[in-house]
Amino acid sequence: MLLENKHAVIYGAGGTVGAAVARAFAREGAWVSLAGRTRTKLDRLAQDISAASGNVAGIAQVDALDVQAVEQHVGRLAEDVGALDICFNAVGDEATLGQPLLDIPFAEFIRPITRLVTAQFLIAKAVARYMIQRNSGVILTMTGSGLPMAGMGGAMTGWAAVDALCGQLARELGPHGVRVLWLQTTGLPEALTVDRFPAYGTGREGGMTRDELVDWLRGKTMLKRLTTLEEVGNAAAFLASDRAGAMTGSGANLTGGSVFG
Ligand SMILES: NC(=O)c1ccc[n+]([C@@H]2O[C@H](COP(=O)([O-])OP(=O)(O)OC[C@H]3O[C@@H](n4cnc5c(N)ncnc54)[C@H](OP(=O)(O)O)[C@@H]3O)[C@@H](O)[C@H]2O)c1
Repeated sequence: MLLENKHAVIYGAGGTVGAAVARAFAREGAWVSLAGRTRTKLDRLAQDISAASGNVAGIAQVDALDVQAVEQHVGRLAEDVGALDICFNAVGDEATLGQPLLDIPFAEFIRPITRLVTAQFLIAKAVARYMIQRNSGVILTMTGSGLPMAGMGGAMTGWAAVDALCGQLARELGPHGVRVLWLQTTGLPEALTVDRFPAYGTGREGGMTRDELVDWLRGKTMLKRLTTLEEVGNAAAFLASDRAGAMTGSGANLTGGSVFG
Protein backbone atom coordinates (compact mmCIF):
# COMPACT_ATOMS: atom_id res chain seq x y z
CA MET A 1 0.00 0.00 0.00
CA LEU A 2 1.21 3.49 -0.88
CA LEU A 3 0.56 5.26 2.42
CA GLU A 4 1.09 2.66 5.11
CA ASN A 5 2.01 4.19 8.50
CA LYS A 6 1.39 7.73 7.23
CA HIS A 7 -0.94 10.16 8.93
CA ALA A 8 -3.10 12.34 6.69
CA VAL A 9 -5.39 15.20 7.64
CA ILE A 10 -8.15 16.15 5.21
CA TYR A 11 -9.93 19.50 5.51
CA GLY A 12 -13.35 19.71 3.91
CA ALA A 13 -13.51 15.94 4.37
CA GLY A 14 -17.31 15.95 4.42
CA GLY A 15 -17.46 17.24 0.83
CA THR A 16 -17.42 15.43 -2.50
CA VAL A 17 -13.70 15.69 -3.19
CA GLY A 18 -12.57 15.55 0.46
CA ALA A 19 -14.49 12.32 1.12
CA ALA A 20 -13.14 10.65 -2.03
CA VAL A 21 -9.58 11.59 -1.09
CA ALA A 22 -10.03 10.45 2.53
CA ARG A 23 -11.34 7.09 1.30
CA ALA A 24 -8.42 6.70 -1.10
CA PHE A 25 -5.84 7.60 1.54
CA ALA A 26 -7.38 5.08 3.96
CA ARG A 27 -7.48 2.41 1.24
CA GLU A 28 -3.76 2.94 0.77
CA GLY A 29 -3.11 2.36 4.46
CA ALA A 30 -2.97 5.89 5.90
CA TRP A 31 -4.48 6.89 9.22
CA VAL A 32 -6.90 9.68 8.32
CA SER A 33 -8.01 12.63 10.43
CA LEU A 34 -11.23 14.10 9.10
CA ALA A 35 -11.85 17.83 9.55
CA GLY A 36 -14.82 19.80 8.30
CA ARG A 37 -17.80 21.96 9.04
CA THR A 38 -20.74 19.58 9.38
CA ARG A 39 -20.27 16.88 12.01
CA THR A 40 -22.86 14.46 10.64
CA LYS A 41 -21.11 14.22 7.26
CA LEU A 42 -17.79 13.51 8.96
CA ASP A 43 -19.37 10.85 11.22
CA ARG A 44 -20.93 9.12 8.20
CA LEU A 45 -17.64 9.15 6.29
CA ALA A 46 -15.73 7.82 9.31
CA GLN A 47 -18.21 4.94 9.60
CA ASP A 48 -17.81 4.12 5.89
CA ILE A 49 -14.02 4.17 6.10
CA SER A 50 -13.99 2.01 9.25
CA ALA A 51 -16.46 -0.42 7.68
CA ALA A 52 -14.04 -0.81 4.77
CA SER A 53 -11.26 -1.62 7.27
CA GLY A 54 -9.67 1.82 7.01
CA ASN A 55 -8.10 3.63 9.96
CA VAL A 56 -9.73 6.85 11.20
CA ALA A 57 -7.47 8.72 13.63
CA GLY A 58 -10.07 11.33 14.53
CA ILE A 59 -12.88 13.66 13.54
CA ALA A 60 -13.01 17.39 14.21
CA GLN A 61 -15.32 20.26 13.43
CA VAL A 62 -12.97 23.04 12.34
CA ASP A 63 -13.73 26.31 10.58
CA ALA A 64 -10.96 26.37 7.99
CA LEU A 65 -11.33 30.14 7.60
CA ASP A 66 -10.64 30.84 11.27
CA VAL A 67 -6.92 31.17 11.98
CA GLN A 68 -7.20 30.22 15.66
CA ALA A 69 -9.41 27.21 14.98
CA VAL A 70 -7.01 25.87 12.34
CA GLU A 71 -3.88 26.43 14.42
CA GLN A 72 -5.43 24.83 17.52
CA HIS A 73 -6.60 21.85 15.51
CA VAL A 74 -3.22 21.28 13.89
CA GLY A 75 -1.48 21.71 17.26
CA ARG A 76 -3.75 19.06 18.82
CA LEU A 77 -3.14 16.72 15.89
CA ALA A 78 0.61 17.11 16.14
CA GLU A 79 0.43 16.27 19.84
CA ASP A 80 -1.92 13.32 19.38
CA VAL A 81 -0.41 11.63 16.35
CA GLY A 82 3.15 12.90 16.50
CA ALA A 83 3.67 13.04 12.74
CA LEU A 84 1.70 15.05 10.21
CA ASP A 85 2.76 13.45 6.95
CA ILE A 86 0.06 14.59 4.53
CA CYS A 87 -2.46 17.41 4.39
CA PHE A 88 -5.22 17.70 1.76
CA ASN A 89 -7.34 20.85 1.56
CA ALA A 90 -10.76 20.30 -0.06
CA VAL A 91 -12.62 23.16 1.59
CA GLY A 92 -15.49 24.40 -0.58
CA ASP A 93 -15.37 27.68 -2.48
CA GLU A 94 -19.10 28.52 -2.39
CA ALA A 95 -18.93 30.25 -5.76
CA THR A 96 -22.03 31.54 -7.50
CA LEU A 97 -22.25 29.25 -10.51
CA GLY A 98 -24.11 29.48 -13.76
CA GLN A 99 -24.31 33.24 -14.21
CA PRO A 100 -22.10 35.53 -16.28
CA LEU A 101 -19.64 37.73 -14.41
CA LEU A 102 -21.58 40.82 -15.51
CA ASP A 103 -24.63 39.58 -13.64
CA ILE A 104 -23.09 38.87 -10.24
CA PRO A 105 -22.32 41.47 -7.59
CA PHE A 106 -18.72 42.00 -6.48
CA ALA A 107 -19.34 40.36 -3.09
CA GLU A 108 -20.32 37.12 -4.83
CA PHE A 109 -17.36 37.31 -7.22
CA ILE A 110 -14.80 37.83 -4.45
CA ARG A 111 -16.25 35.26 -1.99
CA PRO A 112 -14.72 32.11 -3.52
CA ILE A 113 -11.40 33.87 -4.12
CA THR A 114 -11.17 34.91 -0.47
CA ARG A 115 -12.34 31.51 0.77
CA LEU A 116 -9.95 29.48 -1.40
CA VAL A 117 -6.91 31.62 -0.66
CA THR A 118 -7.67 31.99 3.05
CA ALA A 119 -8.22 28.27 3.63
CA GLN A 120 -5.10 27.30 1.70
CA PHE A 121 -2.91 29.90 3.43
CA LEU A 122 -4.12 29.11 6.96
CA ILE A 123 -4.04 25.32 6.60
CA ALA A 124 -0.70 25.17 4.77
CA LYS A 125 0.95 27.57 7.21
CA ALA A 126 -0.29 25.65 10.25
CA VAL A 127 0.74 22.18 9.02
CA ALA A 128 4.03 23.31 7.47
CA ARG A 129 5.22 24.56 10.85
CA TYR A 130 5.10 20.97 12.15
CA MET A 131 6.23 19.30 8.92
CA ILE A 132 9.44 21.30 8.67
CA GLN A 133 10.45 20.15 12.16
CA ARG A 134 10.66 16.60 10.76
CA ASN A 135 12.01 17.73 7.39
CA SER A 136 9.16 15.86 5.70
CA GLY A 137 5.58 16.36 4.57
CA VAL A 138 3.22 16.78 1.64
CA ILE A 139 0.65 19.57 1.24
CA LEU A 140 -2.03 19.00 -1.41
CA THR A 141 -5.08 20.84 -2.66
CA MET A 142 -7.48 20.85 -5.57
CA THR A 143 -7.86 23.58 -8.16
CA GLY A 144 -9.27 23.96 -11.66
CA SER A 145 -7.90 23.14 -15.09
CA GLY A 146 -7.20 26.70 -16.18
CA LEU A 147 -9.51 26.15 -19.17
CA PRO A 148 -11.68 29.27 -19.36
CA MET A 149 -15.28 28.35 -18.62
CA ALA A 150 -18.35 30.54 -18.58
CA GLY A 151 -20.49 30.80 -15.48
CA MET A 152 -17.85 29.95 -12.87
CA GLY A 153 -18.16 33.17 -10.87
CA GLY A 154 -14.94 33.86 -8.96
CA ALA A 155 -13.90 30.20 -8.73
CA MET A 156 -11.49 30.24 -11.68
CA THR A 157 -9.71 33.35 -10.41
CA GLY A 158 -9.54 31.77 -6.95
CA TRP A 159 -8.04 28.55 -8.32
CA ALA A 160 -5.40 30.51 -10.25
CA ALA A 161 -4.55 32.40 -7.05
CA VAL A 162 -4.21 29.12 -5.13
CA ASP A 163 -1.93 27.73 -7.86
CA ALA A 164 0.34 30.77 -7.41
CA LEU A 165 0.21 30.51 -3.62
CA CYS A 166 1.14 26.82 -3.78
CA GLY A 167 4.04 27.57 -6.12
CA GLN A 168 5.47 30.04 -3.61
CA LEU A 169 4.89 27.64 -0.72
CA ALA A 170 6.69 24.89 -2.64
CA ARG A 171 9.67 27.18 -3.21
CA GLU A 172 9.84 28.23 0.45
CA LEU A 173 9.16 24.80 1.98
CA GLY A 174 11.20 22.65 -0.43
CA PRO A 175 14.51 23.19 1.40
CA HIS A 176 12.74 21.87 4.53
CA GLY A 177 11.67 18.62 2.88
CA VAL A 178 8.03 19.61 2.39
CA ARG A 179 6.40 19.08 -1.02
CA VAL A 180 3.45 21.14 -2.25
CA LEU A 181 1.24 20.01 -5.14
CA TRP A 182 -2.18 20.85 -6.49
CA LEU A 183 -4.56 18.64 -8.46
CA GLN A 184 -6.05 20.23 -11.56
CA THR A 185 -9.29 18.83 -12.93
CA THR A 186 -12.10 19.78 -15.17
CA GLY A 187 -15.55 19.58 -13.63
CA LEU A 188 -16.15 16.18 -12.09
CA PRO A 189 -19.49 14.83 -13.34
CA GLU A 190 -20.21 13.27 -9.91
CA ALA A 191 -19.84 16.71 -8.33
CA LEU A 192 -21.67 18.64 -11.06
CA THR A 193 -25.10 17.97 -9.66
CA VAL A 194 -28.06 19.98 -10.87
CA ASP A 195 -28.65 21.45 -7.41
CA ARG A 196 -25.19 22.99 -7.51
CA PHE A 197 -26.01 24.76 -10.76
CA PRO A 198 -29.47 26.13 -10.12
CA ALA A 199 -28.94 29.06 -12.43
CA TYR A 200 -27.23 27.22 -15.24
CA GLY A 201 -29.05 27.95 -18.45
CA THR A 202 -30.15 31.41 -17.43
CA GLY A 203 -26.84 33.07 -18.34
CA ARG A 204 -26.77 35.88 -20.86
CA GLU A 205 -24.37 34.01 -23.12
CA GLY A 206 -23.47 30.36 -23.47
CA GLY A 207 -26.16 29.29 -21.03
CA MET A 208 -26.08 25.52 -20.68
CA THR A 209 -28.01 22.93 -18.77
CA ARG A 210 -26.01 20.72 -16.42
CA ASP A 211 -25.94 17.93 -19.03
CA GLU A 212 -24.88 20.29 -21.83
CA LEU A 213 -22.08 21.54 -19.60
CA VAL A 214 -20.86 17.99 -18.95
CA ASP A 215 -20.96 17.26 -22.71
CA TRP A 216 -19.04 20.48 -23.45
CA LEU A 217 -16.39 19.61 -20.86
CA ARG A 218 -16.11 16.05 -22.17
CA GLY A 219 -15.66 17.36 -25.72
CA LYS A 220 -12.65 19.44 -24.62
CA THR A 221 -10.75 16.40 -23.31
CA MET A 222 -8.32 14.32 -25.37
CA LEU A 223 -9.68 11.14 -23.78
CA LYS A 224 -13.30 12.08 -24.58
CA ARG A 225 -14.32 11.32 -21.02
CA LEU A 226 -14.26 13.24 -17.77
CA THR A 227 -12.26 12.52 -14.64
CA THR A 228 -13.91 10.44 -11.92
CA LEU A 229 -13.76 11.04 -8.19
CA GLU A 230 -12.01 7.71 -7.79
CA GLU A 231 -9.28 8.87 -10.17
CA VAL A 232 -8.86 12.06 -8.15
CA GLY A 233 -8.47 9.98 -4.97
CA ASN A 234 -5.99 7.62 -6.60
CA ALA A 235 -3.89 10.46 -7.98
CA ALA A 236 -3.92 12.23 -4.61
CA ALA A 237 -2.72 9.04 -2.90
CA PHE A 238 0.13 8.67 -5.39
CA LEU A 239 1.19 12.33 -5.07
CA ALA A 240 1.10 12.04 -1.29
CA SER A 241 3.28 8.92 -1.35
CA ASP A 242 7.05 8.61 -1.32
CA ARG A 243 6.81 7.28 -4.90
CA ALA A 244 6.19 10.90 -5.96
CA GLY A 245 9.11 12.12 -3.87
CA ALA A 246 10.62 14.19 -6.68
CA MET A 247 7.41 16.08 -7.39
CA THR A 248 6.74 19.50 -5.94
CA GLY A 249 5.75 22.98 -7.08
CA SER A 250 3.48 21.61 -9.78
CA GLY A 251 -0.12 21.09 -10.73
CA ALA A 252 -1.01 17.49 -11.50
CA ASN A 253 -2.94 17.60 -14.75
CA LEU A 254 -5.96 15.33 -14.27
CA THR A 255 -7.98 17.00 -16.99
CA GLY A 256 -7.99 14.10 -19.44
CA GLY A 257 -6.09 16.37 -21.82
CA SER A 258 -8.44 19.38 -21.66
CA VAL A 259 -5.36 21.48 -21.18
CA PHE A 260 -1.99 20.66 -22.68
CA GLY A 261 1.13 20.15 -20.56
N1 LIG B 1 -16.01 19.39 -7.72
C1 LIG B 1 -15.32 19.78 -8.76
O1 LIG B 1 -15.65 19.47 -9.93
C2 LIG B 1 -14.10 20.62 -8.56
C3 LIG B 1 -13.29 20.90 -9.63
C4 LIG B 1 -12.16 21.66 -9.44
C5 LIG B 1 -11.88 22.14 -8.16
N2 LIG B 1 -12.70 21.88 -7.11
C6 LIG B 1 -12.37 22.42 -5.79
O2 LIG B 1 -12.29 21.36 -4.85
C7 LIG B 1 -12.75 21.84 -3.57
C8 LIG B 1 -13.80 20.88 -3.05
O3 LIG B 1 -14.86 20.77 -3.97
P1 LIG B 1 -16.11 19.85 -3.68
O4 LIG B 1 -16.77 19.65 -4.97
O5 LIG B 1 -15.72 18.68 -2.86
O6 LIG B 1 -17.00 20.83 -2.75
P2 LIG B 1 -18.12 20.41 -1.68
O7 LIG B 1 -18.73 19.10 -2.01
O8 LIG B 1 -18.98 21.61 -1.53
O9 LIG B 1 -17.30 20.19 -0.33
C9 LIG B 1 -16.67 21.22 0.32
C10 LIG B 1 -16.54 20.86 1.77
O10 LIG B 1 -15.89 21.96 2.45
C11 LIG B 1 -16.57 22.16 3.68
N3 LIG B 1 -16.39 23.54 4.13
C12 LIG B 1 -16.92 24.66 3.56
N4 LIG B 1 -16.55 25.73 4.27
C13 LIG B 1 -15.79 25.29 5.28
C14 LIG B 1 -15.12 25.92 6.34
N5 LIG B 1 -15.15 27.24 6.51
N6 LIG B 1 -14.42 25.17 7.21
C15 LIG B 1 -14.37 23.83 7.06
N7 LIG B 1 -14.98 23.16 6.08
C16 LIG B 1 -15.68 23.89 5.19
C17 LIG B 1 -18.01 21.87 3.37
O11 LIG B 1 -18.68 21.66 4.59
P3 LIG B 1 -20.24 21.27 4.69
O12 LIG B 1 -20.18 19.78 4.69
O13 LIG B 1 -20.67 21.87 5.95
O14 LIG B 1 -20.90 21.85 3.49
C18 LIG B 1 -17.90 20.66 2.47
O15 LIG B 1 -17.86 19.47 3.22
C19 LIG B 1 -13.29 23.24 -3.78
O16 LIG B 1 -12.35 24.17 -3.34
C20 LIG B 1 -13.45 23.37 -5.27
O17 LIG B 1 -13.19 24.68 -5.72
C21 LIG B 1 -13.80 21.11 -7.28
